[in-house]
Amino acid sequence: MKDTDSTLAQFDQAGAERLEKIYLTPDVVQQREQIFQLLDVKPGMHALDIGCGTGLTTLALAESVANAGRVDAIDIAPPMLAMAARRCSAHRQVTFHQADILQMPFAEATFDVALATQVYEYVADIDDALRELARVMKPGAQVLLVDTDWESCVWACRDEVRMRRMMQGWSQHIPHPQLPRTMRQRLQRAGFADVQAHTIPLMNMACSSDTFSGGMMGFIASFVGGLPDFGPQLAADWQADVRSMEDAGGYFFSISRYVFVAHKPLA
Ligand SMILES: C[S@@+](CC[C@H](N)C(=O)[O-])C[C@H]1O[C@@H](n2cnc3c(N)ncnc32)[C@H](O)[C@@H]1O
Repeated sequence: MKDTDSTLAQFDQAGAERLEKIYLTPDVVQQREQIFQLLDVKPGMHALDIGCGTGLTTLALAESVANAGRVDAIDIAPPMLAMAARRCSAHRQVTFHQADILQMPFAEATFDVALATQVYEYVADIDDALRELARVMKPGAQVLLVDTDWESCVWACRDEVRMRRMMQGWSQHIPHPQLPRTMRQRLQRAGFADVQAHTIPLMNMACSSDTFSGGMMGFIASFVGGLPDFGPQLAADWQADVRSMEDAGGYFFSISRYVFVAHKPLA
């Protein structure tokens, strides 16, 4: 299966709705606010939202560039684009495009600022994708990329062997489950300068559906349960184990998001 086929399967209508629920939890709302504090976006700018998903980041960009600015948002998955377009329907400065980040429908040196949260980890040809990003940015423009290293995930359970097996299955949902470790060198190779890195931790001490980990549990169980060598029984037993930690007052989840900020050199 090509990585774009796997991405489209994960972000069908049901996947889009599940993702939206997770991205509206207080955990992820707070994380988005922290990410936007690192973004240098101002009224009148031309901004790019790469892999816009639910459109929550597109909406925040639209409000930041205001009526004098413009936002172009791309995504490969039609259900995500439809959701994002509905969310931003009151903002005429936003245009959506169904496109692959490997081949963006924009001229060279178009954008002042670009944002991609949890997107590059889905793309096998990441170095080509970063060169394509450099192509569409203006000299001096800022890019901000957020990705997760799933080995930073700490999740309390009783059966550690099963937890490792589940995480091994989950690592197959993207071609680059440990992307942040190599992102700085990749950005530099693609021609970006002043690469800065930040971490944003996310922690849950309770397992409700209104938390990031409570929502992700269903996503992970559904993906790993569908893999031929793993199966739904393993996924169901894992979910029951992790949930049962709450009964003993021992529920614990944490993960790090890695934020990379870089600039296209002026000359
Ligand atoms: C985990 S979601 C993140 C959505 C959004 N950036 C956010 O943080 O709210 C990943 C998104 O990247 C999109 N995506 C993955 N690979 C892509 C590609 N090659 N080209 C364009 N979009 C892609 C998916 O369709 C999905 O909407």
